[in-house]
Amino acid sequence: MDFSTYLKKYPSQSGRFGRFGGAYLPEQLVPAMEEITQAYMTICHSSQFINELRRIRREFQGRPTPVYHCENLSRKLGNCQIYLKREDLNHSGAHKLNHCMGEGLLAKYMGKKRIIAETGAGMHGVALATAAAFFGLECTIYMGEVDIAKQAPNVARMKVLGAEVVPVSAGLKTLKEAVDAAFEDYLQNYKDTIYCIGSVVGPHPFPMMVRDFQMVVGEEARAQFKEMTGFLPDVVTACVGGGSNSIGFFLPFINDPVEIVGVEPMGRGDKLGEHAASMSYGVEGVMHGFDSIMLKDEDGNPAPVYSIASGLDYPSVGPEHAFLRELGRVKYDTADDMETINAFFKLSRYEGIIPALESAHAVAYAMRRAKEMGKGSILVNLSGRGDKDLDYVIERYGTGENFKDFDELPAKKVVEEKPAQVEQFETPAGNEGN
Ligand SMILES: Cc1ncc(COP(=O)(O)O)c(C=O)c1O
Repeated sequence: MDFSTYLKKYPSQSGRFGRFGGAYLPEQLVPAMEEITQAYMTICHSSQFINELRRIRREFQGRPTPVYHCENLSRKLGNCQIYLKREDLNHSGAHKLNHCMGEGLLAKYMGKKRIIAETGAGMHGVALATAAAFFGLECTIYMGEVDIAKQAPNVARMKVLGAEVVPVSAGLKTLKEAVDAAFEDYLQNYKDTIYCIGSVVGPHPFPMMVRDFQMVVGEEARAQFKEMTGFLPDVVTACVGGGSNSIGFFLPFINDPVEIVGVEPMGRGDKLGEHAASMSYGVEGVMHGFDSIMLKDEDGNPAPVYSIASGLDYPSVGPEHAFLRELGRVKYDTADDMETINAFFKLSRYEGIIPALESAHAVAYAMRRAKEMGKGSILVNLSGRGDKDLDYVIERYGTGENFKDFDELPAKKVVEEKPAQVEQFETPAGNEGN
Protein backbone atom coordinates (compact mmCIF):
# COMPACT_ATOMS: atom_id res chain seq x y z
CA MET A 1 0.00 0.00 0.00
CA ASP A 2 1.47 3.37 -0.89
CA PHE A 3 1.56 6.30 1.50
CA SER A 4 -1.40 8.25 0.08
CA THR A 5 -3.56 5.10 0.14
CA TYR A 6 -2.55 4.54 3.77
CA LEU A 7 -3.61 8.10 4.66
CA LYS A 8 -6.95 7.71 2.87
CA LYS A 9 -7.62 4.42 4.59
CA TYR A 10 -6.52 5.26 8.13
CA PRO A 11 -8.35 6.28 10.11
CA SER A 12 -11.62 4.83 8.85
CA GLN A 13 -14.75 7.02 8.81
CA SER A 14 -15.41 6.08 12.42
CA GLY A 15 -11.90 7.08 13.40
CA ARG A 16 -10.40 3.58 13.63
CA PHE A 17 -6.82 2.53 13.03
CA GLY A 18 -7.54 -1.19 12.79
CA ARG A 19 -9.36 -1.87 16.05
CA PHE A 20 -7.78 1.11 17.87
CA GLY A 21 -9.09 4.67 18.10
CA GLY A 22 -12.78 5.50 17.72
CA ALA A 23 -14.76 8.04 19.76
CA TYR A 24 -16.08 7.00 23.19
CA LEU A 25 -18.01 10.06 24.31
CA PRO A 26 -20.77 11.19 26.64
CA GLU A 27 -23.93 11.68 24.57
CA GLN A 28 -23.93 15.47 24.68
CA LEU A 29 -20.45 15.63 23.12
CA VAL A 30 -21.28 13.44 20.11
CA PRO A 31 -22.73 16.31 18.00
CA ALA A 32 -19.83 18.59 19.03
CA MET A 33 -17.24 16.06 17.80
CA GLU A 34 -19.23 15.50 14.61
CA GLU A 35 -19.27 19.25 14.01
CA ILE A 36 -15.46 19.39 14.38
CA THR A 37 -15.01 16.34 12.11
CA GLN A 38 -17.26 17.79 9.39
CA ALA A 39 -15.62 21.20 9.60
CA TYR A 40 -12.13 19.73 9.45
CA MET A 41 -12.91 17.37 6.55
CA THR A 42 -14.31 20.30 4.54
CA ILE A 43 -11.96 23.10 5.54
CA CYS A 44 -8.70 21.14 5.39
CA HIS A 45 -9.22 20.58 1.65
CA SER A 46 -9.96 24.23 0.86
CA SER A 47 -7.12 26.08 -0.84
CA GLN A 48 -7.83 29.14 1.34
CA PHE A 49 -7.19 27.15 4.55
CA ILE A 50 -4.14 25.38 3.11
CA ASN A 51 -2.59 28.62 1.83
CA GLU A 52 -3.24 30.45 5.09
CA LEU A 53 -1.64 27.62 7.10
CA ARG A 54 1.36 27.54 4.75
CA ARG A 55 1.85 31.29 5.14
CA ILE A 56 1.61 31.01 8.94
CA ARG A 57 4.16 28.18 8.97
CA ARG A 58 6.59 30.16 6.84
CA GLU A 59 6.18 33.67 8.24
CA PHE A 60 5.14 33.13 11.87
CA GLN A 61 6.60 29.76 12.84
CA GLY A 62 9.83 30.04 10.83
CA ARG A 63 9.38 26.76 8.94
CA PRO A 64 11.03 24.79 7.53
CA THR A 65 13.14 23.99 10.57
CA PRO A 66 16.59 22.63 9.60
CA VAL A 67 18.09 19.15 9.76
CA TYR A 68 21.44 19.29 11.53
CA HIS A 69 24.36 16.82 11.45
CA CYS A 70 25.78 16.25 14.96
CA GLU A 71 29.36 15.72 13.86
CA ASN A 72 30.91 16.16 17.31
CA LEU A 73 28.53 13.82 19.10
CA SER A 74 28.75 11.23 16.29
CA ARG A 75 32.55 11.29 16.39
CA LYS A 76 32.48 10.65 20.13
CA LEU A 77 30.27 7.62 19.63
CA GLY A 78 32.05 6.00 16.66
CA ASN A 79 31.19 6.04 12.96
CA CYS A 80 27.41 6.10 13.01
CA GLN A 81 26.16 9.59 12.13
CA ILE A 82 23.46 11.26 14.22
CA TYR A 83 21.25 13.96 12.66
CA LEU A 84 18.56 16.09 14.31
CA LYS A 85 15.35 17.53 12.91
CA ARG A 86 15.35 20.84 14.78
CA GLU A 87 11.78 21.28 16.05
CA ASP A 88 13.35 23.13 18.99
CA LEU A 89 13.73 25.97 16.48
CA ASN A 90 10.03 25.97 15.61
CA HIS A 91 8.51 29.19 17.06
CA SER A 92 7.68 28.77 20.78
CA GLY A 93 10.32 26.04 21.10
CA ALA A 94 8.66 22.74 20.23
CA HIS A 95 6.71 20.82 17.60
CA LYS A 96 3.46 21.56 19.47
CA LEU A 97 2.85 24.82 17.57
CA ASN A 98 2.41 22.81 14.33
CA HIS A 99 -0.95 21.44 15.43
CA CYS A 100 -1.91 24.41 17.62
CA MET A 101 -1.81 26.82 14.66
CA GLY A 102 -3.88 24.33 12.65
CA GLU A 103 -6.39 23.88 15.47
CA GLY A 104 -6.52 27.66 16.08
CA LEU A 105 -7.16 28.32 12.41
CA LEU A 106 -9.91 25.69 12.42
CA ALA A 107 -11.48 27.31 15.52
CA LYS A 108 -11.45 30.65 13.69
CA TYR A 109 -13.09 29.16 10.59
CA MET A 110 -15.73 27.52 12.79
CA GLY A 111 -16.50 30.83 14.54
CA LYS A 112 -15.46 29.57 18.02
CA LYS A 113 -14.44 32.14 20.62
CA ARG A 114 -12.35 30.07 23.00
CA ILE A 115 -9.75 27.32 22.87
CA ILE A 116 -8.77 25.18 25.85
CA ALA A 117 -6.25 22.42 26.52
CA GLU A 118 -4.32 20.37 29.03
CA THR A 119 -0.55 20.60 29.28
CA GLY A 120 2.19 18.53 30.93
CA ALA A 121 5.58 20.06 30.20
CA GLY A 122 3.83 23.32 29.35
CA MET A 123 4.96 23.28 25.70
CA HIS A 124 1.49 22.51 24.37
CA GLY A 125 0.05 25.15 26.72
CA VAL A 126 2.56 27.75 25.50
CA ALA A 127 1.89 26.78 21.87
CA LEU A 128 -1.87 27.03 22.30
CA ALA A 129 -1.58 30.35 24.17
CA THR A 130 0.58 31.55 21.25
CA ALA A 131 -2.06 30.44 18.73
CA ALA A 132 -4.82 32.10 20.80
CA ALA A 133 -2.91 35.40 20.85
CA PHE A 134 -2.32 35.14 17.08
CA PHE A 135 -5.98 34.41 16.25
CA GLY A 136 -7.50 36.66 18.96
CA LEU A 137 -9.18 33.81 20.88
CA GLU A 138 -9.69 33.31 24.61
CA CYS A 139 -7.53 30.54 26.06
CA THR A 140 -7.65 28.37 29.20
CA ILE A 141 -4.93 25.84 30.02
CA TYR A 142 -5.28 23.07 32.63
CA MET A 143 -2.04 21.97 34.29
CA GLY A 144 -1.31 19.63 37.20
CA GLU A 145 0.15 21.32 40.29
CA VAL A 146 3.24 19.08 40.18
CA ASP A 147 3.94 20.18 36.60
CA ILE A 148 3.27 23.83 37.46
CA ALA A 149 6.05 23.63 40.07
CA LYS A 150 8.38 21.79 37.68
CA GLN A 151 7.83 23.97 34.62
CA ALA A 152 7.59 27.49 36.08
CA PRO A 153 9.06 29.32 33.03
CA ASN A 154 6.35 27.88 30.78
CA VAL A 155 3.61 28.87 33.25
CA ALA A 156 4.91 32.45 33.12
CA ARG A 157 5.02 32.34 29.30
CA MET A 158 1.40 31.17 29.05
CA LYS A 159 0.25 33.97 31.35
CA VAL A 160 2.24 36.64 29.49
CA LEU A 161 0.65 35.38 26.25
CA GLY A 162 -2.75 36.07 27.81
CA ALA A 163 -3.91 32.56 28.75
CA GLU A 164 -5.61 31.61 32.01
CA VAL A 165 -3.67 28.76 33.69
CA VAL A 166 -5.87 26.58 35.93
CA PRO A 167 -3.97 24.43 38.49
CA VAL A 168 -5.26 20.85 38.83
CA SER A 169 -4.92 19.33 42.31
CA ALA A 170 -6.64 15.95 41.79
CA GLY A 171 -4.81 12.58 41.85
CA LEU A 172 -1.11 12.71 40.98
CA LYS A 173 -1.55 16.35 39.88
CA THR A 174 0.07 15.69 36.49
CA LEU A 175 -0.93 15.22 32.84
CA LYS A 176 -3.73 12.67 33.11
CA GLU A 177 -5.59 14.75 35.70
CA ALA A 178 -5.10 17.87 33.55
CA VAL A 179 -6.77 16.01 30.63
CA ASP A 180 -9.68 15.01 32.94
CA ALA A 181 -10.16 18.65 34.00
CA ALA A 182 -10.04 19.96 30.42
CA PHE A 183 -12.70 17.38 29.40
CA GLU A 184 -14.91 18.61 32.27
CA ASP A 185 -14.62 22.20 31.03
CA TYR A 186 -15.36 21.10 27.46
CA LEU A 187 -18.50 19.25 28.59
CA GLN A 188 -19.87 22.53 29.97
CA ASN A 189 -18.71 24.85 27.18
CA TYR A 190 -18.60 22.91 23.91
CA LYS A 191 -20.88 25.38 22.09
CA ASP A 192 -18.34 28.22 21.86
CA THR A 193 -15.14 26.33 22.73
CA ILE A 194 -12.82 23.81 21.07
CA TYR A 195 -10.77 21.48 23.24
CA CYS A 196 -7.47 21.45 21.36
CA ILE A 197 -6.03 18.15 22.56
CA GLY A 198 -2.25 18.31 22.82
CA SER A 199 -1.35 15.06 21.14
CA VAL A 200 -2.63 12.29 18.83
CA VAL A 201 -4.91 11.04 21.61
CA GLY A 202 -8.56 11.57 22.55
CA PRO A 203 -11.65 10.79 20.48
CA HIS A 204 -11.82 10.96 16.67
CA PRO A 205 -11.07 13.32 14.90
CA PHE A 206 -8.18 14.49 17.15
CA PRO A 207 -5.68 11.66 16.51
CA MET A 208 -6.19 12.25 12.77
CA MET A 209 -6.16 16.07 12.85
CA VAL A 210 -3.12 16.41 15.10
CA ARG A 211 -1.28 13.79 12.98
CA ASP A 212 -2.11 15.64 9.76
CA PHE A 213 -0.89 18.95 11.16
CA GLN A 214 2.32 17.33 12.50
CA MET A 215 3.20 15.51 9.28
CA VAL A 216 4.95 18.64 8.02
CA VAL A 217 7.86 17.61 10.30
CA GLY A 218 8.49 14.23 8.64
CA GLU A 219 7.84 15.55 5.14
CA GLU A 220 10.40 18.31 5.55
CA ALA A 221 12.91 16.04 7.32
CA ARG A 222 12.76 13.30 4.66
CA ALA A 223 13.39 15.77 1.81
CA GLN A 224 16.10 17.68 3.75
CA PHE A 225 17.98 14.54 4.77
CA LYS A 226 17.92 13.20 1.20
CA GLU A 227 19.17 16.48 -0.15
CA MET A 228 21.97 16.65 2.45
CA THR A 229 23.23 13.08 2.13
CA GLY A 230 21.77 11.62 -1.06
CA PHE A 231 20.33 8.76 1.01
CA LEU A 232 17.61 8.01 3.50
CA PRO A 233 18.59 7.44 7.15
CA ASP A 234 18.92 3.86 8.44
CA VAL A 235 16.92 4.65 11.58
CA VAL A 236 14.44 7.39 12.41
CA THR A 237 13.49 7.90 16.03
CA ALA A 238 11.47 10.21 18.28
CA CYS A 239 10.19 10.27 21.85
CA VAL A 240 6.62 9.11 22.49
CA GLY A 241 4.34 10.67 25.10
CA GLY A 242 0.90 10.82 23.56
CA GLY A 243 2.72 10.40 20.27
CA SER A 244 2.28 13.60 18.20
CA ASN A 245 5.88 14.53 17.33
CA SER A 246 6.70 10.90 16.58
CA ILE A 247 3.70 10.11 14.37
CA GLY A 248 4.18 13.27 12.28
CA PHE A 249 7.87 12.46 11.92
CA PHE A 250 7.47 8.73 11.20
CA LEU A 251 4.64 8.54 8.68
CA PRO A 252 6.43 10.07 5.67
CA PHE A 253 9.07 7.30 6.07
CA ILE A 254 6.55 4.49 6.32
CA ASN A 255 7.11 3.15 2.81
CA ASP A 256 10.89 3.50 2.95
CA PRO A 257 13.46 0.84 3.88
CA VAL A 258 14.05 2.67 7.15
CA GLU A 259 13.83 1.31 10.69
CA ILE A 260 11.36 3.38 12.73
CA VAL A 261 11.63 3.43 16.53
CA GLY A 262 9.51 5.26 19.11
CA VAL A 263 11.14 5.88 22.50
CA GLU A 264 9.09 5.79 25.70
CA PRO A 265 10.15 6.87 29.19
CA MET A 266 11.41 4.08 31.45
CA GLY A 267 11.66 6.57 34.33
CA ARG A 268 13.13 5.09 37.51
CA GLY A 269 12.46 1.41 36.76
CA ASP A 270 10.06 -1.21 35.45
CA LYS A 271 7.63 -1.31 38.41
CA LEU A 272 4.15 0.10 37.76
CA GLY A 273 4.16 3.76 38.79
CA GLU A 274 7.88 4.19 38.12
CA HIS A 275 7.67 4.68 34.34
CA ALA A 276 5.26 5.62 31.53
CA ALA A 277 6.24 2.98 28.96
CA SER A 278 2.68 2.17 27.82
CA MET A 279 3.73 0.20 24.73
CA SER A 280 6.17 -2.01 26.64
CA TYR A 281 3.96 -2.76 29.65
CA GLY A 282 0.40 -1.74 28.71
CA VAL A 283 -2.72 -3.61 27.66
CA GLU A 284 -5.63 -2.63 25.45
CA GLY A 285 -8.28 -0.37 26.97
CA VAL A 286 -10.39 2.77 26.65
CA MET A 287 -9.48 6.09 28.27
CA HIS A 288 -10.11 9.76 27.45
CA GLY A 289 -12.44 8.80 24.59
CA PHE A 290 -10.23 6.39 22.58
CA ASP A 291 -9.19 2.75 22.45
CA SER A 292 -5.46 2.06 22.58
CA ILE A 293 -2.70 0.45 24.62
CA MET A 294 -2.57 1.77 28.17
CA LEU A 295 -1.10 1.19 31.59
CA LYS A 296 -3.75 0.03 34.05
CA ASP A 297 -3.70 -0.57 37.80
CA GLU A 298 -5.09 -3.79 39.29
CA ASP A 299 -8.64 -2.37 39.28
CA GLY A 300 -8.40 -1.64 35.54
CA ASN A 301 -8.13 2.15 36.02
CA PRO A 302 -5.38 4.24 34.36
CA ALA A 303 -2.22 3.50 36.35
CA PRO A 304 -0.10 6.16 38.04
CA VAL A 305 2.84 6.99 35.79
CA TYR A 306 6.13 8.79 36.17
CA SER A 307 8.83 10.28 33.95
CA ILE A 308 11.50 12.89 34.52
CA ALA A 309 9.92 14.57 31.46
CA SER A 310 6.51 16.03 32.29
CA GLY A 311 5.42 15.78 28.65
CA LEU A 312 5.89 12.00 28.60
CA ASP A 313 4.09 10.90 31.76
CA TYR A 314 0.82 9.83 30.17
CA PRO A 315 -0.55 6.30 30.76
CA SER A 316 -1.49 5.66 27.14
CA VAL A 317 -0.41 6.38 23.59
CA GLY A 318 -2.16 7.51 20.41
CA PRO A 319 -4.18 4.74 18.68
CA GLU A 320 -2.20 4.93 15.43
CA HIS A 321 0.95 3.96 17.35
CA ALA A 322 -0.83 0.88 18.73
CA PHE A 323 -1.88 0.04 15.17
CA LEU A 324 1.57 0.57 13.62
CA ARG A 325 3.17 -1.59 16.27
CA GLU A 326 0.66 -4.34 15.65
CA LEU A 327 1.46 -4.15 11.92
CA GLY A 328 5.12 -4.54 12.84
CA ARG A 329 6.02 -1.32 11.05
CA VAL A 330 7.14 0.73 14.08
CA LYS A 331 9.14 -0.62 17.03
CA TYR A 332 9.06 0.85 20.52
CA ASP A 333 12.00 1.00 22.91
CA THR A 334 12.71 2.92 26.11
CA ALA A 335 15.22 5.28 27.72
CA ASP A 336 15.34 5.78 31.49
CA ASP A 337 15.86 8.97 33.49
CA MET A 338 19.63 8.61 33.90
CA GLU A 339 20.28 7.85 30.22
CA THR A 340 18.10 10.84 29.40
CA ILE A 341 19.96 13.21 31.72
CA ASN A 342 23.24 11.96 30.29
CA ALA A 343 21.99 12.69 26.75
CA PHE A 344 20.72 16.12 27.89
CA PHE A 345 24.23 17.10 29.04
CA LYS A 346 26.05 15.44 26.12
CA LEU A 347 24.02 17.21 23.43
CA SER A 348 24.42 20.49 25.30
CA ARG A 349 28.19 20.19 25.71
CA TYR A 350 29.18 18.63 22.40
CA GLU A 351 26.73 20.33 20.05
CA GLY A 352 25.61 23.50 21.86
CA ILE A 353 21.98 22.38 21.81
CA ILE A 354 20.05 22.07 25.11
CA PRO A 355 17.23 19.59 24.41
CA ALA A 356 13.88 19.31 26.17
CA LEU A 357 13.93 16.36 28.58
CA GLU A 358 11.24 14.75 26.41
CA SER A 359 13.42 14.97 23.30
CA ALA A 360 16.52 13.88 25.27
CA HIS A 361 14.89 10.42 25.54
CA ALA A 362 15.18 10.05 21.76
CA VAL A 363 18.74 11.41 21.80
CA ALA A 364 19.64 8.87 24.53
CA TYR A 365 18.26 6.05 22.39
CA ALA A 366 20.13 7.34 19.32
CA MET A 367 23.38 7.46 21.30
CA ARG A 368 22.90 3.86 22.46
CA ARG A 369 22.04 2.67 18.94
CA ALA A 370 24.91 4.62 17.34
CA LYS A 371 27.38 2.76 19.53
CA GLU A 372 25.76 -0.58 18.68
CA MET A 373 25.48 0.10 14.94
CA GLY A 374 29.01 1.46 14.53
CA LYS A 375 28.11 2.87 11.07
CA GLY A 376 25.14 4.20 9.11
CA SER A 377 22.89 7.08 10.17
CA ILE A 378 20.16 7.92 12.67
CA LEU A 379 17.75 10.83 12.26
CA VAL A 380 16.25 12.03 15.56
CA ASN A 381 13.29 14.34 15.91
CA LEU A 382 14.49 16.91 18.44
CA SER A 383 10.94 17.81 19.46
CA GLY A 384 11.75 20.78 21.69
CA ARG A 385 14.27 22.94 23.48
CA GLY A 386 15.30 22.50 27.09
CA ASP A 387 15.20 26.00 28.60
CA LYS A 388 12.04 25.03 30.51
CA ASP A 389 13.94 22.14 32.17
CA LEU A 390 17.11 23.95 33.23
CA ASP A 391 16.10 24.89 36.79
CA TYR A 392 14.79 21.39 37.49
CA VAL A 393 17.89 19.67 36.05
CA ILE A 394 20.43 21.96 37.72
CA GLU A 395 18.77 21.60 41.11
CA ARG A 396 19.03 17.79 40.94
CA TYR A 397 22.06 17.06 38.76
CA GLY A 398 24.18 20.21 38.83
CA THR A 399 25.51 21.53 35.55
CA GLY A 400 26.70 18.19 34.21
CA GLU A 401 30.25 17.88 35.57
CA ASN A 402 29.63 14.24 36.46
CA PHE A 403 28.47 13.35 32.98
CA LYS A 404 31.71 13.92 31.02
CA ASP A 405 32.44 10.25 30.56
CA PHE A 406 32.81 9.71 26.81
CA ASP A 407 35.45 7.29 25.63
CA GLU A 408 37.37 9.07 22.90
CA LEU A 409 36.79 7.19 19.67
CA PRO A 410 38.44 7.61 16.25
CA ALA A 411 36.97 10.33 14.03
CA LYS A 412 36.69 8.17 10.92
CA LYS A 413 33.75 8.75 8.58
CA VAL A 414 32.08 5.94 6.67
CA VAL A 415 29.98 6.65 3.59
CA GLU A 416 27.21 4.10 3.44
CA GLU A 417 25.93 2.44 0.28
CA LYS A 418 22.15 2.28 0.34
CA PRO A 419 19.97 -0.29 -1.39
CA ALA A 420 18.53 1.31 -4.53
CA GLN A 421 15.17 -0.45 -4.21
CA VAL A 422 12.46 0.84 -1.92
CA GLU A 423 10.50 -1.95 -0.27
CA GLN A 424 6.76 -1.49 -0.25
CA PHE A 425 5.04 -1.50 3.11
CA GLU A 426 2.20 -4.00 2.97
CA THR A 427 -0.69 -3.94 5.40
CA PRO A 428 -1.76 -7.43 6.51
CA ALA A 429 -5.32 -8.00 5.32
CA GLY A 430 -6.57 -8.88 8.81
CA ASN A 431 -5.67 -5.44 10.08
CA GLU A 432 -7.60 -3.33 7.58
CA GLY A 433 -9.52 -0.36 8.94
CA ASN A 434 -13.31 -0.57 8.98
C1 LIG B 1 9.21 18.98 23.69
C2 LIG B 1 8.21 17.89 23.80
N1 LIG B 1 8.43 16.73 23.14
C3 LIG B 1 7.57 15.69 23.21
C4 LIG B 1 6.42 15.78 23.99
C5 LIG B 1 5.53 14.58 24.06
O1 LIG B 1 4.35 14.72 23.36
P1 LIG B 1 4.08 13.91 22.02
O2 LIG B 1 4.37 12.47 22.30
O3 LIG B 1 2.64 14.16 21.75
O4 LIG B 1 4.96 14.45 20.97
C6 LIG B 1 6.14 16.97 24.69
C7 LIG B 1 4.92 17.10 25.49
O5 LIG B 1 4.71 18.03 26.21
C8 LIG B 1 7.07 18.04 24.59
O6 LIG B 1 6.86 19.20 25.25
